[in-house]
Amino acid sequence: TLVKISDDALARAGGADKLAAAFEAKGCEVHRTSSWGMHWLEPMVEIDGKGFGPATLDDVDAILDGSSDKGIGVIEEFAWIANQTRLTFARAGKTRPLSLEDYAANGGWKGLERARSLDGEQVCKEVLDSGLRGRGGAGFPTGIKWETVRKAAGPKKYIVCNADEGDSGTFADRMAMEGDPFQLIEGMAIAGAAVGADQGYIYVRSEYPDAIRKLNAALDLCGDTIAPFKCEVRVGAGAYVCGEETSLLNSLEGKRGEVRAKPPLPALEGFMGKPTVVNNVLTLMAVPHILQEGGAADYAAKGIGRSKGTMPIQLAGNIKYGGLYEAPFGLTLGELVNEIGGGTFTGKPVKAVQVGGPLGAYIHPDQFDLAFGYEEFAGEDALIGHAGVTVFDDSADMGEMARFAMEFCAAESCGKCTPCRIGAVRGVEVIDRIRTGGRQRDVLELRPQMHNTTKDKGREAAEEVGLLTDLCETMKFGSLCALGGFTPYPVMSALKHWPQDFFGEDEVPA
Ligand code: NAI
Ligand code: SF4
Repeated sequence: TLVKISDDALARAGGADKLAAAFEAKGCEVHRTSSWGMHWLEPMVEIDGKGFGPATLDDVDAILDGSSDKGIGVIEEFAWIANQTRLTFARAGKTRPLSLEDYAANGGWKGLERARSLDGEQVCKEVLDSGLRGRGGAGFPTGIKWETVRKAAGPKKYIVCNADEGDSGTFADRMAMEGDPFQLIEGMAIAGAAVGADQGYIYVRSEYPDAIRKLNAALDLCGDTIAPFKCEVRVGAGAYVCGEETSLLNSLEGKRGEVRAKPPLPALEGFMGKPTVVNNVLTLMAVPHILQEGGAADYAAKGIGRSKGTMPIQLAGNIKYGGLYEAPFGLTLGELVNEIGGGTFTGKPVKAVQVGGPLGAYIHPDQFDLAFGYEEFAGEDALIGHAGVTVFDDSADMGEMARFAMEFCAAESCGKCTPCRIGAVRGVEVIDRIRTGGRQRDVLELRPQMHNTTKDKGREAAEEVGLLTDLCETMKFGSLCALGGFTPYPVMSALKHWPQDFFGEDEVPA
């Protein structure tokens, strides 16, 4: 019997390796494939296209003799999968990550072949016409970025893949790199052909050892397939800010991961001062499909408004059916959380959803008709970011979450600019003062070195809120990069929608 079990880190953490060994011990042939992305079912076992999960060692016999009650039927017909539009994750669950044979047999290298039949300008145009925008979060048109690098002077140019996926609740980059490393390599080789770069670097966070191992193995296996393009993996050291492109480039150059002022844009002066494409994993992995099927005809035909194509959305946090859900832009947040995600894991009411990582706004269920798209979210003072959707039930304390946002910023700040470096520290203090009203929580005890005078404790709540609002405005408009600039989003959205979590029900100022 041929048994498929994922070797994705999440499945492995759930016991997939032992499960695979148990099936082998029963005489089965086991293929370790990528994950389908249905996290609540991992580790999942697939036999003849049918899925069983979450499987434990106790389920092995029943799965083999057909008496298991953990079956979900044919996986491709299972609604959670059948209703998706998988372009970036087209091979997810179906192929062995490091099998060149599987990759080629399932559409691999077709995009690169087509790119090689075009000139650089045509490839950039194809990507521009697809409407693909930066999937790291900012949503800048990829075709324009590539064209800028292509036109930049100089013989030496670079492709840098930003795989420093630091947003809380996100895992699409990790899953993609672990599950389909050749697709990322193909996307980078296409980018290289488009802009005239022969060297690429994949900057992966150290927290992703499986992805690092698989990327290195995949690059070894590729051999000359991507020549003259060459690519290497570089490992970060755990700083959130190194996901910011200029700080990533500094780190890649062996320097301290501090943000650089823009301009110059990396597209013109990036790695080692040379024109550089810096793209997120998902952006680069969307490209092979675009080249293969046509940017305008296929990719741009999906989505809404200026948000074209599909987005691999990551459902996480307190959610019943969490995992990777790739769909064209346009689903509402309510559909994503309540219908697809099945509501909270705890079964309690949803209180808040944070979209776009620790710097994303907290969204109230009243706003659940919001459509998933760049402009749609921006219109509500929110961002889709890297499309991480983290759900909280009604036990969450949103005042504490706002405090966490400031604390996170203070801890991760690179220190280059004042609004972020000092503002975030002051932000924690102001939130503490608002939340204690100078009473319940002794600020003096919590942060003795930062507490100035007893006068602070007596300050009126409304005055403190004014101070916090001013501080957030200063951080938003005065910070050099998104870390300081976006921290106000979770803070102000929490304050706006859940003021009672800051003041107590009867103390909310007018
Ligand atoms: P940005 O808007 O400054 O730039 C976006 C990209 O477009 C950059 O690569 C920039 O170099 C490029 N660009 C801008 N103008 C250009 C031009 N005229 N020609 C060529 N290229 C041009 O945004 P930034 O600071 O790079 O990213 C902020 C975003 O990062 C936020 O929206 C946030 O969602 C996201 N983010 C993602 C995280 C993750 O884990 N994926 C973590 C934290 C933040
Ligand atoms: Fe550094 Fe923060 Fe300024 Fe960004 S906003 S450059 S992380 S100090």
